[in-house]
Amino acid sequence: MISSSESESQREVAMADSRSSMRRLLSYALPHLGEFLVVVGLVLIYVVTQVMQPWLVKIVIDRDLIVKHPDFHAILMIGILYLATTAVGLLANFTQNRKLQWFGQRIVREIRDDLYAHIESLSMRFFDTHETGRLITNVASDTNRVSQFFTSFLLSLIQDGMMLLVTMGAMLLLDWRIALISFLVIPVIVIISMLFRRKLRENYQYTRTQYSRLIGFTAENLEGMRITQIFNQEPKQLDEHRELNRRYTLGNINEYRWSVRFNRTFNALGNLSVALMMWIGGTAVLHHTIQLGVLYAFISYIQRFFSPINSLTQNWNTLQTSMVSAERLGGVLLTEPEIKDPNQPVTVRLGRTGMVQAEGAVAFDHVTFGYTPQAPVLHDITFTVPPQAFVGFVGETGAGKSTLMGLLTRFYDVQRGSITVDGVDISRFRQADLHRMMAIVQQEVNLFSGTVADNIRLFRTDVSDQTVYEAAEIAGADGFIRNLPGGYDAWIRAKGANLSLGQRQLLAFARALVLNPKVLILDEATASLDSTTEKILQEGLTRIASGRTTLVIAHRLSTVRDADVIYVMHQGRIVEQGNHEELMAERGYYADLVHKSTPSEVHVG
Ligand SMILES: Nc1ncnc2c1ncn2[C@@H]1O[C@H](COP(=O)(O)OP(=O)(O)OP(=O)(O)O)[C@@H](O)[C@H]1O
Ligand SMILES: [Mg+2]
Repeated sequence: MISSSESESQREVAMADSRSSMRRLLSYALPHLGEFLVVVGLVLIYVVTQVMQPWLVKIVIDRDLIVKHPDFHAILMIGILYLATTAVGLLANFTQNRKLQWFGQRIVREIRDDLYAHIESLSMRFFDTHETGRLITNVASDTNRVSQFFTSFLLSLIQDGMMLLVTMGAMLLLDWRIALISFLVIPVIVIISMLFRRKLRENYQYTRTQYSRLIGFTAENLEGMRITQIFNQEPKQLDEHRELNRRYTLGNINEYRWSVRFNRTFNALGNLSVALMMWIGGTAVLHHTIQLGVLYAFISYIQRFFSPINSLTQNWNTLQTSMVSAERLGGVLLTEPEIKDPNQPVTVRLGRTGMVQAEGAVAFDHVTFGYTPQAPVLHDITFTVPPQAFVGFVGETGAGKSTLMGLLTRFYDVQRGSITVDGVDISRFRQADLHRMMAIVQQEVNLFSGTVADNIRLFRTDVSDQTVYEAAEIAGADGFIRNLPGGYDAWIRAKGANLSLGQRQLLAFARALVLNPKVLILDEATASLDSTTEKILQEGLTRIASGRTTLVIAHRLSTVRDADVIYVMHQGRIVEQGNHEELMAERGYYADLVHKSTPSEVHVG
């Protein structure tokens, strides 16, 4: 009982969903209503010309041909008229198709732009819970399927629907009794075509699934080729590939087989219905109830049932896939960004580099946070960093150090407590302003396709070459960049594949320094550097840190040794704080960490 009513209400929700996604789709079309009506008009012209043609032939047969004195002049005139309808029909069809493609493509472009802009506005939690691959599918193929709704489905509904109705009308006008008998073939066509469609769709989906498995397998294994070869996995992978390939081929063959079956059945059905018409109509002609021309027209018309019905059932499928895509898109578009700008943001002053002018004082006040509310990863964090201070954060993996910085940059909002910059709660800044105060360098560096200089200035045209060089110099990246073929104009491949980890890291440093931020966050930023480079950077760190507040997270404790204050984190809490000497003297957790990480330094420290 309970489960049935539950599924009932689920179904209601689903129906409401598809109804609202339908409305959403149509809302994109609404501004183009005028154009759409023109298309409908053109379709109507096309349909009328198509239905007129057998009628014209019927007139020739009955009025001008099989009489005692054939009227050649009239035959000629009707011939010309026939040609004219062909020409008009072609023109209307051509224009309508072109207009409809424009219409559909423009709508899908608007949807895609909206979708991308919306995704960009969403908060980090959304990206935590949505896979990138899924979102790419949304932007790329779901929007295409939705465009099929406008081009394929609507067109078929109008064109095929009208074709059927007008043809049926013409038949009724010619002879309503024979017309009604002929209409009996319609349900037969509908049922057969629906049955086949189901089979065809199953096959299609099976093949698509096998195809994406095959592609997925290939992509994954090409990326991991090193591992495959080193661990001698080639024969096993090849077997797996063979199996996937076999299934995909089987799917293709099946798909082809069923589409041939479908076409042949439809052809046979067409011939049968012509035979039926010959029998019924022929008898009527012999009994002089109808004329020969009428029989001709009927035979032409009954064959015209097939293609529109086939196309309508096919597009019924299109409608369903479009709706599924529309629901998925709707799901993304209806997601509200979790973190919003305040209604009355604090006004800020912009400096020369486009950075916000700020002192750079950072304070956490009793901050508690968890990625899910039930499982806090930070407990009651309180600390104050005066402007231009250099502070370090250390602690074991998973202690919550990166989370702390995610809160400061407001990728997530705190659950309890508050975070302030220069005494102002960060939620009172516009997010763009907040992000103009700080820059972050992470261990994982995201590089974009472009030149080295592009990646340092992040494609901002207002950042001069000189600024880029200076930033790279301070970051210690200048040396290796000048050694690249092309120097600052060297092209960076996707994800920076042609650079080493450490080189990417140095670029990220330069990128942060270009902005001249008031608050600089380094999250494991030196972890991939060799000890020589790290030492150079270490020496540069004082220079980098001067004039700004610098928060450094480091596993390598030597990185933060000179920090004004080091905060030691353990399981989401700050357990110790002080400078290196104070902490060592305490002989607590920090001293423990130092001993564990650099046994040789025990005596030195
Ligand atoms: N996006 C996320 N969604 C859910 N939980 C997360 C997320 N990011 C981190 N966590 C969890 O929060 C806790 C703290 O993670 P955090 O990344 O802040 O640790 P960390 O101190 O930076 O560790 P590391 O030194 O390894 O970088 C971990 O238990 C982790 O599993
Ligand atoms: Mg971390």
